Amino acid sequence: PLIDRLFNASQTEIELAQKLGIDRAIIVPGDMDRQERVVDLMGEQLNSALDLLLPLGKSIITVLGGTTVAGVARHLSPKLSRYRDLLFVPGRGAVGESVEIQSNTVAQMMASETGGRHKGLYLPENVSSEALTLLLQDTDIANAISNIYNSDMVIHGIGRADVMSKRRGLDVMTNSKLRNDGAVAECFGYFFDRQGRLVKRIPRIGLQLEDLDKIPHVFAIAAGASKAAAIVAYMHHAPKQTWLITDEGASNLVLKGK
Ligand code: BG6
Repeated sequence: PLIDRLFNASQTEIELAQKLGIDRAIIVPGDMDRQERVVDLMGEQLNSALDLLLPLGKSIITVLGGTTVAGVARHLSPKLSRYRDLLFVPGRGAVGESVEIQSNTVAQMMASETGGRHKGLYLPENVSSEALTLLLQDTDIANAISNIYNSDMVIHGIGRADVMSKRRGLDVMTNSKLRNDGAVAECFGYFFDRQGRLVKRIPRIGLQLEDLDKIPHVFAIAAGASKAAAIVAYMHHAPKQTWLITDEGASNLVLKGK
């Protein structure tokens, strides 16, 4: 069964985790760039891993957006809520992405699949620091933010810089600067080049990269050969307790050092 597989990492999974400097890598067969079912396999792995790692009782799970995380959400099962009280919260404000893949929507989906609870955070992602100070005086917003900081687990994706700069609606100048600076990855609003150097940071409300260190369990879910460079770039910053769920398409390239 899947749970046994989680304890018994394959040699390739051990090599990948070591190369990326993280605790665990789970590799599913196929290449997500060409095979849609890969996301289903990753979803099943995530479900088993959550069952293994989440303690009984109350847990707060912060969820980010994106197509991959949205795709795995439907594989979470009600069994996860047996003897557990799961609260799913979005890691960021909503505006900027299409509704189906916003972190709010994904958190809601995960809550409904598992029979857990969900709390929304409806905020624009990019606001001035003056506006932010005012917004944080709102009790609902302050509570939502404190849930993020106190979460027991984070589930996030890793994006390609070119795809994410378009999706985040960055202007033409910024886009071409990102290209010239060699940005290949985007994660939590940070753009990194191949060596993991920070190229740009979009200031935003919600989970920040430095907050991840304090979170006991972190899942990064990203797959497909086209994401290999993004995965390597981001992993320079991933906290050690990260578990990466990926596919052969990405991992073969990462291990070949491409
Ligand atoms: C999100 C992250 O979870 O996934 C983003 O917050 C990342 O920073 C995105 O870029 C990737 O989305 P996708 O659609 O490539 O899975």
